[in-house]
Amino acid sequence: MKGSVLMYLQLATVAVLALACSIAFASDPSPLQDFCVAFDKNDSAVFVNGKFCKDPKDVKAEDFFLSGLNVAGDTSGQLGSKVTPVAVNELVGLNTLGISLARIDFAPYGLNPPHTHPRASEVLFVLEGTLYVGFVTSNGDDGNRLFTKVLNAGDVFVFPVGLIHFQFNTEKSNAIAFAGLSSQNPGVITIANATFGSEPPINPDVLTKAFQLDKNLVEYLQKLF
Ligand SMILES: *[C@@H]1O[C@H](CO)[C@@H](O)[C@H](O)[C@H]1NC(C)=O
Ligand SMILES: *[C@@H]1O[C@H](CO)[C@@H](O)[C@H](O)[C@H]1NC(C)=O
Repeated sequence: MKGSVLMYLQLATVAVLALACSIAFASDPSPLQDFCVAFDKNDSAVFVNGKFCKDPKDVKAEDFFLSGLNVAGDTSGQLGSKVTPVAVNELVGLNTLGISLARIDFAPYGLNPPHTHPRASEVLFVLEGTLYVGFVTSNGDDGNRLFTKVLNAGDVFVFPVGLIHFQFNTEKSNAIAFAGLSSQNPGVITIANATFGSEPPINPDVLTKAFQLDKNLVEYLQKLF
């Protein structure tokens, strides 16, 4: 009697473990680029979800190495910020690992404008300066909530995957931040550029109605981007 109860408990444990494993491993890999359209002829199908893997016996330490992140990015552009990515395109050893990094430099009052990363959450660390940062939640019952914080050197802030966020240098000195991202290829959608600067342009009637703007202003913005 005692033995059969024990056996039942062991079987139940095995069943629970099996269920847990199938929950953890049953899903397909997440998309590693915007899309990967199926293609039947395999000799012409040169892209995979992510990148091809190098033959392990040809792999060298250099494949996992990159230097130069001590050098400030050029912030002389219109917005006064520069993102230097270290993703799979820059560091091939990141392929399939689900992580990447970026350095972000800010001129005085420089802005990393509202944008989203479709494939990654971001954890931002401020090395130097002061940044006003924030993100907006998705459309929900309580609307689009804005979460903001003023960050100083040593502070860390998290931007959840896919949400619109920004970083603004509020001071008249430079700022430097580093970001860790939960994808080898996080992707960036800069809201203003994607909306007003798409190629070809979105029909201005769509933007006029969507943003409740004067059509002339929409056409002006489309020229600007
Ligand atoms: C690619 O296509 C060829 C010819 O149809 C086929 O023999 C081969 O098995 C295919 N390879 C893969 C990886 O699907
Ligand atoms: C977005 O558009 C502005 C204005 O044309 C331009 O300065 C900036 O480089 C663009 N940003 C990206 C990420 O393409």
